[in-house]
Amino acid sequence: MENTVNMAQKVFYIKTFGCQMNERDSEIMAQTLSSFGYIESMNYQEADLVIVNTCSIRAKAEQKVLSLLGYLRKAKKNKPSMKICVAGCVAQQEGARIIERMPHVDLVLGTQQIYNLEKHLQRVDLEGSIVITDLHDKYQIPQFLPEISSLGRTSENNQPSPSSRPCSRFVTIMQGCNNYCTYCVVPYTRGREVSRRIADIVDEVKILVAEGVREITLLGQNVNSYGKTNAVGEPEVPITFTDLLKVVSRIEGVTRLRFTTSNPKDLTDELMCSFRDIANLCPQFHLPVQSGSDRVLAKMNRKYTISEYLQKVDTLHEYCPEIALTTDVIVGFPGEDDEDFEETMTLLEKVRFHGSFSFKYSDRSGTRASAFLDKVDEGVKVARLRRFQGRQDEISLERNREYIGTVKEVMIEECAPNGLRGRTDTNHIVHLNDCSVKSVPGEIIATKILRAGQHSLQGEIYKKD
Ligand code: 5AD
Ligand code: SF4
Repeated sequence: MENTVNMAQKVFYIKTFGCQMNERDSEIMAQTLSSFGYIESMNYQEADLVIVNTCSIRAKAEQKVLSLLGYLRKAKKNKPSMKICVAGCVAQQEGARIIERMPHVDLVLGTQQIYNLEKHLQRVDLEGSIVITDLHDKYQIPQFLPEISSLGRTSENNQPSPSSRPCSRFVTIMQGCNNYCTYCVVPYTRGREVSRRIADIVDEVKILVAEGVREITLLGQNVNSYGKTNAVGEPEVPITFTDLLKVVSRIEGVTRLRFTTSNPKDLTDELMCSFRDIANLCPQFHLPVQSGSDRVLAKMNRKYTISEYLQKVDTLHEYCPEIALTTDVIVGFPGEDDEDFEETMTLLEKVRFHGSFSFKYSDRSGTRASAFLDKVDEGVKVARLRRFQGRQDEISLERNREYIGTVKEVMIEECAPNGLRGRTDTNHIVHLNDCSVKSVPGEIIATKILRAGQHSLQGEIYKKD
């Protein structure tokens, strides 16, 4: 997309790495910049301000950030007035070290600072490079009401993200994490768990539906703990995540409701019942298991066993037979031997996840696991990952084929000249390759599923005989 740039108007470019939390933070920064006169460009070379919103969950994510910052050094040589801001988890963790290594960076913005972007940019103009990475335990997530017009980008892997789907939006309900899984850097980069005020969440959702959004995804690192911690200690009126789900589900205009992410240890029966009792809560659940071995789970500090996990999977199926489950898996965690890995493969066969995200264990500085001595050989990790992903791909295809011949309600997300693309309530992407069908994002079309691939389904408009 090309912008025609008025010379007086400042231009920004944002590159987002990592999770949905970062995508939402990028939307907030984009909206802030638009509100004081900036316009967005898809070309970093012409930007007056480049923001790199970073992720440090694995070494690979961090390397991508560093290589982009290398390109930006050259771009800034050609346009010396360009300001470069590093935001997000790498900014939080690395702080001043970023500017020491890369003096072309002007602003290092920690994860709790994104709402203050305007103020910090003004300081950069006056003072030169600055680093702001304070992390407060009693942080209160500021109220920030959305404006649809300033949004619309795609995530790092160019998958359509809710922010690029006009009918679908993320709403942050909490930030941070208190769980300290031994491999995970999040408690250090995002700080202690804080819940957002329910009234603020409701206000945000109401604005979104008034603007035409139909699908809301509630976001947090650990949504099951919602309400246990807020910025001012204990909440005045205790409220659980299930209470919040009920409140949001009743807001008029919310056709579909989803949430992510959950830790299995905190998954209550009350929350599982929601999949049966809340009609607009989609039958789709991302429940990261990380490993199929109890020994590895204990070393990861996950605080559940595989039999407890499987029990919860059974209960979920009992309450909601059509639920589509996805998960996260780490292979090659320190000390994981062949037997442990086989247990992960066995778990995959038992649950037959609709999909999964799987990763090689990656050492993150500051985490407990980074000090473990029994690291797994890189070649072994590669082989395990390949085997896990190969089998998952087969299962995903088999699972997708189960939909052939069924009729699904597909919420349309994109109307392209060569057809429509939408999503089922189970979160499966569906292509309707019929150019004659006209639709708008947010419309629900009854679709007969005709074909299935590993990553998407194909169908046609269902016509009753
Ligand atoms: N190494 C590999 N994968 C990791 N994840 C988190 N930390 C690490 C790490 N150090 C994965 C987990 C988590 C997902 C978001 O990223 O599977 O659920
Ligand atoms: Fe990381 Fe564990 Fe918290 Fe998830 S629950 S963000 S894996 S520490």
